[in-house]
Amino acid sequence: MSDEIKSKNITWHHGEITRQDREQMNRHKSAVIWFTGLSGSGKSTLAHAVEKRLFELGCRTYVLDGDNVRHGLNKNLGFSPSDREENIRRIGEVANLFQQAGLVAMTAFISPYRADRDKARAVASDSFLEVYVKCSIEACESRDTKGLYKKARAGEVKEFTGISAPYEEPLNPELVVCTDCETLDESAERVMALLRHRGIVGA
Ligand code: ADX
Repeated sequence: MSDEIKSKNITWHHGEITRQDREQMNRHKSAVIWFTGLSGSGKSTLAHAVEKRLFELGCRTYVLDGDNVRHGLNKNLGFSPSDREENIRRIGEVANLFQQAGLVAMTAFISPYRADRDKARAVASDSFLEVYVKCSIEACESRDTKGLYKKARAGEVKEFTGISAPYEEPLNPELVVCTDCETLDESAERVMALLRHRGIVGA
């Protein structure tokens, strides 16, 4: 899909309330935390564990989850490279809107292509934190919580990430968590430490 704006004769309208105003009211910074990794690596589980910790600190948050968003906003998209690109483009924009609204927005999408993640980073600019939820394909496949690896091996699910479609590992993520060698608590704490270090939440 072209990056160009199709509409003509449109003008940006600036509101009275800025992101900084909202951050001040919320008493924390807003951000986009972008969790990427294979299906079954634990992105959603981790995002929700981090959200719980943030919520307990009184932070405003939201988790955008791949499977959920594909039930609504992105229900017209499949898993071809161009549909995945569009999936991630929309989520990059939505996550940025949530961030502008003062939230800590977390996204849990495979987002297999580096170029698409980099575009989402560019949209959100300085407060984009990429967290690579690293887990071997063997461990993801042995978990197979949704039974999709089995179906992919049997050829019943096409273009399945890690089996018959690519996953491009992040080259320079802000954080790598390893869900097959650390506990959920440990991974969640490491994300929280990153947020404290970046001044998103107080020390
Ligand atoms: S992405 O590649 O476009 O970022 P997204 O995170 O939205 O993917 O959706 C991935 C989820 O859709 C997986 O966790 C899995 O439950 C389901 N799924 C169904 N078909 C596929 C497929 N061909 N490849 C990967 N995931 C799939």
